[in-house]
Amino acid sequence: MNVCDAIETRCSVRDYEPKAMPEGDLLKILEAARRAPTARNLHHRRYVVIDNPGEREGFIEACNSQKWIQGASTAIACIIDPEISRWADTDMAIAMEHMVLQAVELGIGSCWVGAFDEKKLSLMLGVPDDRRLFAVLILGYPKNGFSQKPKESIEDIWVRDSYGW
Ligand SMILES: Cc1cc2nc3c(=O)[nH]c(=O)nc-3n(C[C@H](O)[C@H](O)[C@H](O)COP(=O)(O)O)c2cc1C
Repeated sequence: MNVCDAIETRCSVRDYEPKAMPEGDLLKILEAARRAPTARNLHHRRYVVIDNPGEREGFIEACNSQKWIQGASTAIACIIDPEISRWADTDMAIAMEHMVLQAVELGIGSCWVGAFDEKKLSLMLGVPDDRRLFAVLILGYPKNGFSQKPKESIEDIWVRDSYGW
């Protein structure tokens, strides 16, 4: 699959097959994150991998009780150092999207989780106070394949030379 196909296929997946993710695929996904750019090439992104996050006590509750997480094979908690760069959150957002697209190529679905109790989840995962749990990426094999939602049409989103909306 090329990058264009992965972009066209990507969607948030919240319904998963009960299938474990091979370590090799997990490493490919993390490698995609590692290669993502950061402002000034500063290195501060860290990832805590949780297998079967639905089975980790309190995990779903800390993610605002998002029950669909139950069947996921893996969660990746994405942690930044906000002191190191004012772009730290942007750096992580780029890395997360690298992971999402690499996952698509591997046939793995994902969904960002931005709605969570940062204090609760940080405590559970041992994230120190001077770091920030930016978001969680939930991963698993899609039960019903990939199906992208309608997006804005191309002619509605861009214009040449000056802002036209
Ligand atoms: C920053 C961010 C936070 C998100 N947080 C959640 C979340 O907590 N729970 C959830 O089910 N989906 C979450 N999503 C997924 C969005 O709901 C989803 O991307 C959006 O509906 C568009 O659908 P699509 O990804 O299939 O194109 C989040 C997405 C982003 C980019």
